[in-house]
Amino acid sequence: MQHERVAAGSAPYRAPGDVFTGTARYYADFRPVYPAELIDVCVQFASAFPGRRVLDLATGTGAVAIALAERGGDVVAVDPSSEMLDEARRSAAERGVTNVDWQEGSSYGLPDFDDVGLVTIGDAFHWMIPRSDALAALDQRVVPDGAVALLSHRWPGHPKPSWDPFLNRVRARHLGPTLTAGPTGEVSRDEVGTQEDVFRNSAFSHLTKMTTDYTLNVTLDQLVNWQFSQAQTSIPVLGERRGAFEADLRATLRAWEPSERFEEISQAHLLLGRRPSARGGR
Ligand SMILES: C[S@@+](CC[C@H](N)C(=O)[O-])C[C@H]1O[C@@H](n2cnc3c(N)ncnc32)[C@H](O)[C@@H]1O
Repeated sequence: MQHERVAAGSAPYRAPGDVFTGTARYYADFRPVYPAELIDVCVQFASAFPGRRVLDLATGTGAVAIALAERGGDVVAVDPSSEMLDEARRSAAERGVTNVDWQEGSSYGLPDFDDVGLVTIGDAFHWMIPRSDALAALDQRVVPDGAVALLSHRWPGHPKPSWDPFLNRVRARHLGPTLTAGPTGEVSRDEVGTQEDVFRNSAFSHLTKMTTDYTLNVTLDQLVNWQFSQAQTSIPVLGERRGAFEADLRATLRAWEPSERFEEISQAHLLLGRRPSARGGR
């Protein structure tokens, strides 16, 4: 079943820093990593701007920021959630990564810096309502031939993993048709237009796209814990429903796949937007 989404709207989320409350540890441990090819393209692009920083906006637990920093990037990583940033700092320290400047902020209020060659946004552009405002704010900060890159494990309109219908049915049974996120009960909003439409109507309208296959290979435990990393099925959102939700989810997935191993080829995507005047400049 498709969950209801609130009709196209353009109001910002009331508390963007709260949407992912309670997810950080699950996020860091159970979300798939981005394929190296996507990170490599970002590194290659950023290398055209020696001395400029890469801004990883909506860094969450730092998956993109840490991967870029490990390849030598000078990264500033921004997120509205202090919990997510704490987990990101912990992961970075564990991996010996020191060249990331972690800062609290959001698309609604970017910290004060302007020497950015590349902005990366991993699986988070849809939270920056209205998305056109987010790109307008970045237009003020990115150098003239710089770029904004979206990285995504899934792209709207592309096939979803085969277990998605089972997850959706379990979610609907326990949470009803309208999903909310975080303790403040934010509701996902659909905006008119695809990510590409939003870029085409922005300063960053010259697009480069890349899709790459990656293998998702997860156990039942991983798949279940992955759900607790989602804003709409976090432990705080589930509250007292957690036990029944988890039992139902395990039973449903086990009935579908008794081996408790789930493997699938999926596609990750990169959308890189530059200003038209920068086209052919290099
Ligand atoms: C799905 S997570 C993605 C984290 C990370 N980029 C990754 O790819 O693993 C979404 C993140 O967006 C952040 N977020 C939500 N609204 C935001 C906004 N308006 N501006 C910046 N970040 C936002 C959340 O706090 C959360 O950490």
